[in-house]
Amino acid sequence: MQLKVLALGGDGIGPEVVDAGLKVLECAAKSIDLVLDISEDLLHGAAWERYGTFIRDKTLEKARASNAVLVGAVGGPKWEHIVRDGGPEEQDGLMKLRHHLKTFACLRHARVHRALLDRTAFKPAILEGADIMVMRELCGGAMFTTTRGITTDSDGIRRGFDLNEYRESEIARFARVGFEVARRRRSRLLSVDKSNVFMAGKLWREIVSDLGREEFADVELTHFFADNAAYQLSRRPADFDVILADNLFGDILSDQVGAIAGSLGMLPSACLAGSPAKQISECPAIYEPVHGSAPDIAGQGIANPIGTILSVGMLLEYSAGQPDCARRVDRAVDAALTAGFATPDLGGDHTTSQLTDAVIQYFRKV
Ligand code: NAD
Ligand code: IPM
Ligand code: MN
Repeated sequence: MQLKVLALGGDGIGPEVVDAGLKVLECAAKSIDLVLDISEDLLHGAAWERYGTFIRDKTLEKARASNAVLVGAVGGPKWEHIVRDGGPEEQDGLMKLRHHLKTFACLRHARVHRALLDRTAFKPAILEGADIMVMRELCGGAMFTTTRGITTDSDGIRRGFDLNEYRESEIARFARVGFEVARRRRSRLLSVDKSNVFMAGKLWREIVSDLGREEFADVELTHFFADNAAYQLSRRPADFDVILADNLFGDILSDQVGAIAGSLGMLPSACLAGSPAKQISECPAIYEPVHGSAPDIAGQGIANPIGTILSVGMLLEYSAGQPDCARRVDRAVDAALTAGFATPDLGGDHTTSQLTDAVIQYFRKV
Protein backbone atom coordinates (compact mmCIF):
# COMPACT_ATOMS: atom_id res chain seq x y z
CA MET A 1 0.00 0.00 0.00
CA GLN A 2 1.14 3.53 -0.74
CA LEU A 3 0.30 6.39 1.60
CA LYS A 4 0.46 10.03 0.53
CA VAL A 5 1.26 12.27 3.48
CA LEU A 6 1.54 16.04 3.51
CA ALA A 7 3.56 17.36 6.45
CA LEU A 8 2.88 20.91 7.61
CA GLY A 9 5.11 21.86 10.53
CA GLY A 10 3.64 25.34 10.99
CA ASP A 11 5.10 27.62 13.65
CA GLY A 12 6.99 27.59 16.94
CA ILE A 13 7.60 24.02 18.10
CA GLY A 14 5.41 22.71 15.23
CA PRO A 15 8.28 21.86 12.83
CA GLU A 16 10.28 20.31 15.71
CA VAL A 17 7.51 17.88 16.67
CA VAL A 18 6.58 17.09 13.05
CA ASP A 19 10.19 16.11 12.35
CA ALA A 20 9.94 13.72 15.29
CA GLY A 21 6.59 12.36 14.06
CA LEU A 22 7.94 11.76 10.54
CA LYS A 23 10.93 9.83 11.89
CA VAL A 24 8.57 7.49 13.74
CA LEU A 25 6.25 7.23 10.73
CA GLU A 26 9.15 6.25 8.46
CA CYS A 27 10.31 3.60 10.90
CA ALA A 28 6.78 2.23 11.39
CA ALA A 29 6.06 2.19 7.64
CA LYS A 30 9.22 0.21 6.94
CA SER A 31 8.14 -2.45 9.44
CA ILE A 32 4.85 -3.11 7.61
CA ASP A 33 5.97 -2.54 3.99
CA LEU A 34 3.95 0.63 3.73
CA VAL A 35 5.32 2.88 1.00
CA LEU A 36 5.29 6.53 1.99
CA ASP A 37 5.08 9.48 -0.36
CA ILE A 38 5.81 12.42 1.94
CA SER A 39 5.85 16.08 0.90
CA GLU A 40 6.28 19.12 3.11
CA ASP A 41 4.91 22.64 2.98
CA LEU A 42 4.45 25.79 5.04
CA LEU A 43 1.44 26.66 7.18
CA HIS A 44 0.16 29.82 8.89
CA GLY A 45 2.95 32.13 10.15
CA ALA A 46 5.63 30.32 8.20
CA ALA A 47 3.52 30.58 5.02
CA TRP A 48 2.75 34.22 5.75
CA GLU A 49 6.44 35.09 5.97
CA ARG A 50 7.23 33.39 2.67
CA TYR A 51 4.07 33.86 0.59
CA GLY A 52 1.96 36.54 2.33
CA THR A 53 -0.90 34.10 2.91
CA PHE A 54 -1.72 31.73 5.80
CA ILE A 55 -2.12 28.79 3.44
CA ARG A 56 -1.66 28.66 -0.33
CA ASP A 57 -4.32 27.22 -2.66
CA LYS A 58 -1.61 24.89 -3.88
CA THR A 59 -1.16 23.56 -0.34
CA LEU A 60 -4.91 23.00 0.02
CA GLU A 61 -4.91 21.10 -3.29
CA LYS A 62 -1.98 18.99 -2.13
CA ALA A 63 -3.83 18.27 1.12
CA ARG A 64 -6.93 17.15 -0.76
CA ALA A 65 -4.85 14.83 -2.91
CA SER A 66 -3.21 13.23 0.16
CA ASN A 67 -4.38 10.39 2.40
CA ALA A 68 -3.27 12.24 5.49
CA VAL A 69 -1.96 15.62 6.57
CA LEU A 70 0.38 15.72 9.56
CA VAL A 71 0.28 19.14 11.21
CA GLY A 72 2.53 20.55 13.97
CA ALA A 73 1.03 23.73 15.38
CA VAL A 74 0.31 27.26 14.25
CA GLY A 75 0.36 30.79 15.60
CA GLY A 76 2.45 33.18 17.58
CA PRO A 77 2.47 36.81 18.72
CA LYS A 78 3.92 37.96 15.41
CA TRP A 79 0.78 37.06 13.42
CA GLU A 80 -1.96 37.56 16.01
CA HIS A 81 -2.92 41.04 14.87
CA ILE A 82 -3.20 40.34 11.15
CA VAL A 83 -6.83 40.63 10.03
CA ARG A 84 -7.86 39.20 6.66
CA ASP A 85 -11.11 39.69 4.75
CA GLY A 86 -13.58 36.86 5.21
CA GLY A 87 -14.65 34.47 7.94
CA PRO A 88 -12.66 32.86 10.76
CA GLU A 89 -11.07 30.36 8.38
CA GLU A 90 -9.33 33.20 6.53
CA GLN A 91 -7.57 34.30 9.74
CA ASP A 92 -5.80 31.02 10.41
CA GLY A 93 -4.12 28.53 8.08
CA LEU A 94 -5.06 25.50 10.17
CA MET A 95 -8.70 26.51 10.44
CA LYS A 96 -8.77 26.98 6.67
CA LEU A 97 -7.32 23.50 6.19
CA ARG A 98 -9.93 21.95 8.51
CA HIS A 99 -12.68 23.89 6.73
CA HIS A 100 -11.38 22.89 3.28
CA LEU A 101 -11.15 19.18 4.13
CA LYS A 102 -14.45 19.29 6.10
CA THR A 103 -12.85 17.41 8.99
CA PHE A 104 -15.77 18.00 11.34
CA ALA A 105 -15.04 15.06 13.67
CA CYS A 106 -12.00 15.56 15.85
CA LEU A 107 -10.87 12.76 18.17
CA ARG A 108 -8.57 13.99 20.94
CA HIS A 109 -7.19 11.20 23.08
CA ALA A 110 -5.90 11.44 26.64
CA ARG A 111 -4.84 8.52 28.78
CA VAL A 112 -2.81 8.07 31.86
CA HIS A 113 0.69 6.71 31.31
CA ARG A 114 1.77 4.39 34.09
CA ALA A 115 5.31 5.79 34.18
CA LEU A 116 3.93 9.30 34.71
CA LEU A 117 1.35 8.43 37.38
CA ASP A 118 3.24 10.25 40.09
CA ARG A 119 4.21 13.18 37.86
CA THR A 120 0.77 14.67 37.27
CA ALA A 121 -1.12 17.13 39.45
CA PHE A 122 -3.51 14.34 40.50
CA LYS A 123 -3.23 11.77 43.27
CA PRO A 124 -2.27 8.53 41.45
CA ALA A 125 -5.31 6.62 42.77
CA ILE A 126 -7.66 9.10 41.07
CA LEU A 127 -6.01 8.59 37.69
CA GLU A 128 -5.82 4.80 37.70
CA GLY A 129 -7.19 3.59 34.34
CA ALA A 130 -8.14 7.03 32.99
CA ASP A 131 -8.57 6.91 29.22
CA ILE A 132 -10.71 9.60 27.62
CA MET A 133 -11.58 10.41 24.03
CA VAL A 134 -12.76 14.00 23.70
CA MET A 135 -14.75 14.31 20.49
CA ARG A 136 -14.67 17.92 19.36
CA GLU A 137 -16.93 19.22 16.58
CA LEU A 138 -14.38 20.98 14.39
CA CYS A 139 -16.09 22.86 11.56
CA GLY A 140 -18.98 24.77 13.12
CA GLY A 141 -20.28 26.75 16.07
CA ALA A 142 -19.01 30.12 17.24
CA MET A 143 -15.52 29.33 16.00
CA PHE A 144 -16.62 29.23 12.34
CA THR A 145 -19.56 31.62 12.36
CA THR A 146 -19.69 34.38 9.77
CA THR A 147 -22.00 36.37 12.08
CA ARG A 148 -19.15 38.03 13.89
CA GLY A 149 -17.39 41.31 14.17
CA ILE A 150 -16.62 44.38 16.22
CA THR A 151 -19.04 47.24 15.62
CA THR A 152 -19.60 50.58 17.34
CA ASP A 153 -22.97 51.32 18.95
CA SER A 154 -24.64 54.75 18.66
CA ASP A 155 -23.26 55.69 22.09
CA GLY A 156 -19.71 55.14 20.81
CA ILE A 157 -19.22 51.94 22.80
CA ARG A 158 -17.82 49.03 20.77
CA ARG A 159 -19.49 45.64 20.63
CA GLY A 160 -17.78 42.35 19.80
CA PHE A 161 -19.84 39.32 18.80
CA ASP A 162 -19.55 35.76 17.47
CA LEU A 163 -22.79 33.86 16.97
CA ASN A 164 -22.81 30.34 18.39
CA GLU A 165 -25.00 28.44 15.97
CA TYR A 166 -25.46 24.84 14.87
CA ARG A 167 -27.72 23.34 12.23
CA GLU A 168 -29.36 20.09 13.27
CA SER A 169 -27.66 18.28 10.39
CA GLU A 170 -24.25 19.41 11.70
CA ILE A 171 -25.07 18.12 15.18
CA ALA A 172 -26.44 14.82 13.87
CA ARG A 173 -23.50 13.97 11.58
CA PHE A 174 -21.05 14.69 14.37
CA ALA A 175 -23.01 12.89 17.09
CA ARG A 176 -23.28 9.83 14.84
CA VAL A 177 -19.48 9.61 14.67
CA GLY A 178 -19.36 10.08 18.45
CA PHE A 179 -21.68 7.12 19.01
CA GLU A 180 -19.65 5.01 16.57
CA VAL A 181 -16.41 5.91 18.36
CA ALA A 182 -18.04 5.03 21.71
CA ARG A 183 -19.06 1.63 20.28
CA ARG A 184 -15.41 0.95 19.41
CA ARG A 185 -14.45 1.77 23.03
CA ARG A 186 -16.41 1.18 26.24
CA SER A 187 -19.80 2.20 24.79
CA ARG A 188 -20.28 5.21 27.06
CA LEU A 189 -20.94 8.63 25.61
CA LEU A 190 -21.17 11.82 27.63
CA SER A 191 -22.64 14.72 25.68
CA VAL A 192 -21.71 18.16 26.94
CA ASP A 193 -23.72 21.34 26.39
CA LYS A 194 -25.18 24.43 28.06
CA SER A 195 -28.79 23.62 27.22
CA ASN A 196 -29.80 25.29 30.48
CA VAL A 197 -28.84 28.61 28.88
CA PHE A 198 -28.21 28.40 25.12
CA MET A 199 -30.78 27.63 22.43
CA ALA A 200 -28.04 25.99 20.35
CA GLY A 201 -27.42 23.79 23.40
CA LYS A 202 -31.11 22.82 23.63
CA LEU A 203 -31.09 21.74 20.00
CA TRP A 204 -27.80 19.90 20.57
CA ARG A 205 -29.25 17.89 23.46
CA GLU A 206 -32.46 17.08 21.58
CA ILE A 207 -30.66 15.83 18.45
CA VAL A 208 -28.09 13.78 20.41
CA SER A 209 -30.87 12.22 22.57
CA ASP A 210 -33.02 11.31 19.55
CA LEU A 211 -30.10 9.71 17.74
CA GLY A 212 -29.11 7.77 20.84
CA ARG A 213 -32.62 6.43 21.30
CA GLU A 214 -33.29 5.65 17.65
CA GLU A 215 -29.95 4.28 16.42
CA PHE A 216 -27.56 3.68 19.31
CA ALA A 217 -29.63 2.25 22.14
CA ASP A 218 -26.67 -0.03 23.00
CA VAL A 219 -24.50 3.00 23.87
CA GLU A 220 -24.97 4.43 27.37
CA LEU A 221 -25.71 8.12 26.81
CA THR A 222 -25.40 10.76 29.54
CA HIS A 223 -25.71 14.54 29.37
CA PHE A 224 -23.79 17.04 31.51
CA PHE A 225 -23.77 20.79 31.46
CA ALA A 226 -20.30 21.84 30.28
CA ASP A 227 -19.32 23.55 33.53
CA ASN A 228 -20.20 20.46 35.56
CA ALA A 229 -18.33 18.27 33.04
CA ALA A 230 -15.18 20.33 33.63
CA TYR A 231 -15.61 19.94 37.38
CA GLN A 232 -16.28 16.20 37.31
CA LEU A 233 -13.37 15.66 34.92
CA SER A 234 -11.00 17.17 37.41
CA ARG A 235 -12.43 15.09 40.28
CA ARG A 236 -12.89 11.63 38.77
CA PRO A 237 -11.27 11.44 35.31
CA ALA A 238 -11.20 7.62 35.31
CA ASP A 239 -15.02 7.51 35.07
CA PHE A 240 -15.14 9.03 31.57
CA ASP A 241 -15.07 7.26 28.21
CA VAL A 242 -16.10 9.38 25.20
CA ILE A 243 -17.02 13.05 25.60
CA LEU A 244 -19.04 14.69 22.84
CA ALA A 245 -18.60 18.45 22.72
CA ASP A 246 -19.11 21.36 20.36
CA ASN A 247 -16.17 23.25 18.86
CA LEU A 248 -15.61 25.65 21.75
CA PHE A 249 -16.27 23.34 24.72
CA GLY A 250 -14.24 20.63 22.96
CA ASP A 251 -11.29 22.99 22.56
CA ILE A 252 -11.30 23.78 26.26
CA LEU A 253 -11.98 20.28 27.61
CA SER A 254 -9.32 18.73 25.36
CA ASP A 255 -6.65 20.96 26.90
CA GLN A 256 -8.00 20.19 30.36
CA VAL A 257 -7.58 16.44 29.91
CA GLY A 258 -3.93 17.06 29.02
CA ALA A 259 -3.39 17.16 32.77
CA ILE A 260 -4.29 13.47 33.17
CA ALA A 261 -1.65 12.49 30.59
CA GLY A 262 1.01 14.46 32.47
CA SER A 263 1.34 17.26 29.90
CA LEU A 264 -0.61 18.87 27.09
CA GLY A 265 2.35 17.83 24.94
CA MET A 266 1.22 14.19 25.24
CA LEU A 267 -2.13 14.46 23.46
CA PRO A 268 -2.72 13.38 19.87
CA SER A 269 -5.67 14.02 17.60
CA ALA A 270 -7.29 12.80 14.42
CA CYS A 271 -9.54 15.18 12.49
CA LEU A 272 -11.81 13.15 10.23
CA ALA A 273 -14.43 13.96 7.62
CA GLY A 274 -16.57 11.02 8.69
CA SER A 275 -16.58 7.86 10.74
CA PRO A 276 -13.24 6.25 11.66
CA ALA A 277 -14.69 3.00 10.34
CA LYS A 278 -14.91 4.47 6.84
CA GLN A 279 -11.80 6.61 6.96
CA ILE A 280 -9.36 4.47 5.01
CA SER A 281 -9.05 5.47 1.36
CA GLU A 282 -12.02 7.82 1.56
CA CYS A 283 -11.27 11.44 2.54
CA PRO A 284 -7.98 12.97 3.59
CA ALA A 285 -7.70 13.38 7.36
CA ILE A 286 -5.61 15.72 9.50
CA TYR A 287 -3.48 14.43 12.37
CA GLU A 288 -2.09 16.93 14.85
CA PRO A 289 -1.04 17.18 18.48
CA VAL A 290 -3.60 19.01 20.61
CA HIS A 291 -1.10 21.59 21.86
CA GLY A 292 -0.16 24.89 20.24
CA SER A 293 3.07 26.38 18.96
CA ALA A 294 4.43 26.96 22.52
CA PRO A 295 6.46 30.10 21.69
CA ASP A 296 7.90 29.99 25.23
CA ILE A 297 9.99 26.90 24.43
CA ALA A 298 10.29 27.06 20.62
CA GLY A 299 13.74 26.61 19.11
CA GLN A 300 15.22 24.99 22.22
CA GLY A 301 14.84 21.37 21.09
CA ILE A 302 12.94 20.42 24.24
CA ALA A 303 9.34 20.18 22.99
CA ASN A 304 7.54 16.99 23.94
CA PRO A 305 7.09 15.03 20.68
CA ILE A 306 4.72 12.38 22.10
CA GLY A 307 1.47 14.15 21.07
CA THR A 308 2.68 14.15 17.46
CA ILE A 309 4.08 10.62 17.65
CA LEU A 310 0.75 9.33 18.96
CA SER A 311 -0.97 11.32 16.18
CA VAL A 312 1.16 9.31 13.76
CA GLY A 313 -0.26 6.22 15.50
CA MET A 314 -3.79 7.50 14.81
CA LEU A 315 -2.76 8.15 11.20
CA LEU A 316 -1.58 4.56 10.86
CA GLU A 317 -4.83 3.31 12.35
CA TYR A 318 -7.37 5.47 10.53
CA SER A 319 -5.72 6.44 7.23
CA ALA A 320 -3.55 3.37 6.61
CA GLY A 321 -5.81 0.75 8.22
CA GLN A 322 -2.97 -0.52 10.42
CA PRO A 323 -4.33 -0.66 13.99
CA ASP A 324 -1.74 -3.24 15.08
CA CYS A 325 1.08 -0.96 14.00
CA ALA A 326 -0.65 1.93 15.84
CA ARG A 327 -0.73 -0.17 19.04
CA ARG A 328 2.99 -0.80 18.57
CA VAL A 329 3.57 2.96 18.51
CA ASP A 330 1.56 3.25 21.76
CA ARG A 331 3.63 0.49 23.37
CA ALA A 332 6.91 2.04 22.19
CA VAL A 333 5.88 5.36 23.78
CA ASP A 334 5.05 3.61 27.05
CA ALA A 335 8.35 1.72 26.96
CA ALA A 336 10.38 4.92 26.41
CA LEU A 337 8.55 6.64 29.30
CA THR A 338 9.02 3.60 31.53
CA ALA A 339 12.74 3.65 30.75
CA GLY A 340 12.77 7.19 32.16
CA PHE A 341 12.91 9.27 28.99
CA ALA A 342 11.09 12.56 29.59
CA THR A 343 11.20 16.11 28.28
CA PRO A 344 11.14 19.04 30.78
CA ASP A 345 7.33 19.41 30.67
CA LEU A 346 7.24 15.88 32.16
CA GLY A 347 9.84 16.74 34.77
CA GLY A 348 12.76 15.22 32.85
CA ASP A 349 15.74 16.68 31.04
CA HIS A 350 15.74 14.81 27.74
CA THR A 351 15.55 16.62 24.43
CA THR A 352 12.93 16.15 21.72
CA SER A 353 15.30 14.01 19.67
CA GLN A 354 16.46 11.89 22.60
CA LEU A 355 12.86 11.00 23.47
CA THR A 356 12.02 10.40 19.80
CA ASP A 357 15.04 8.16 19.27
CA ALA A 358 14.09 6.19 22.39
CA VAL A 359 10.56 5.63 21.02
CA ILE A 360 12.04 4.44 17.72
CA GLN A 361 14.44 2.12 19.50
CA TYR A 362 11.60 0.57 21.53
CA PHE A 363 9.33 0.39 18.48
CA ARG A 364 11.76 -2.13 17.03
CA LYS A 365 11.50 -4.26 20.20
CA VAL A 366 7.82 -4.16 21.22
P1 NAD B 1 0.26 26.15 23.80
O1 NAD B 1 -0.44 24.85 23.69
O2 NAD B 1 1.16 26.50 22.67
O3 NAD B 1 1.12 26.16 25.15
C1 NAD B 1 0.54 26.05 26.44
C2 NAD B 1 1.60 25.60 27.45
O4 NAD B 1 1.90 24.23 27.22
C3 NAD B 1 2.92 26.34 27.31
O5 NAD B 1 3.49 26.49 28.59
C4 NAD B 1 3.78 25.41 26.47
O6 NAD B 1 5.17 25.54 26.70
C5 NAD B 1 3.26 24.06 26.92
N1 NAD B 1 3.37 23.08 25.83
C6 NAD B 1 2.53 22.95 24.78
N2 NAD B 1 2.93 21.97 23.97
C7 NAD B 1 4.05 21.47 24.50
C8 NAD B 1 4.95 20.44 24.12
N3 NAD B 1 4.76 19.71 23.01
N4 NAD B 1 6.02 20.19 24.90
C9 NAD B 1 6.23 20.88 26.03
N5 NAD B 1 5.42 21.88 26.45
C10 NAD B 1 4.33 22.16 25.69
O7 NAD B 1 -0.87 27.27 24.01
P2 NAD B 1 -0.75 28.88 24.07
O8 NAD B 1 0.51 29.27 24.73
O9 NAD B 1 -2.04 29.34 24.59
O10 NAD B 1 -0.69 29.32 22.54
C11 NAD B 1 0.53 29.60 21.83
C12 NAD B 1 0.19 29.77 20.35
O11 NAD B 1 -0.26 28.52 19.81
C13 NAD B 1 -0.93 30.78 20.07
O12 NAD B 1 -0.59 31.48 18.91
C14 NAD B 1 -2.16 29.91 19.84
O13 NAD B 1 -3.11 30.51 19.01
C15 NAD B 1 -1.53 28.72 19.16
N6 NAD B 1 -2.27 27.45 19.29
C16 NAD B 1 -2.25 26.63 18.21
C17 NAD B 1 -2.82 25.38 18.28
C18 NAD B 1 -2.76 24.50 17.08
O14 NAD B 1 -1.99 24.76 16.18
N7 NAD B 1 -3.51 23.44 17.02
C19 NAD B 1 -3.41 24.96 19.47
C20 NAD B 1 -3.39 25.82 20.58
C21 NAD B 1 -2.82 27.06 20.48
C1 IPM C 1 -6.59 23.85 18.72
C2 IPM C 1 -6.27 25.32 18.71
C3 IPM C 1 -6.93 25.98 17.53
C4 IPM C 1 -8.45 25.90 17.73
C5 IPM C 1 -6.53 27.41 17.22
C6 IPM C 1 -5.06 27.53 16.95
C7 IPM C 1 -7.27 27.93 16.02
O1 IPM C 1 -6.57 25.91 19.92
O2 IPM C 1 -6.37 23.18 17.70
O3 IPM C 1 -7.03 23.36 19.75
O4 IPM C 1 -9.02 26.64 18.51
O5 IPM C 1 -9.04 25.05 17.10
MN1 MN D 1 -6.95 24.41 21.53
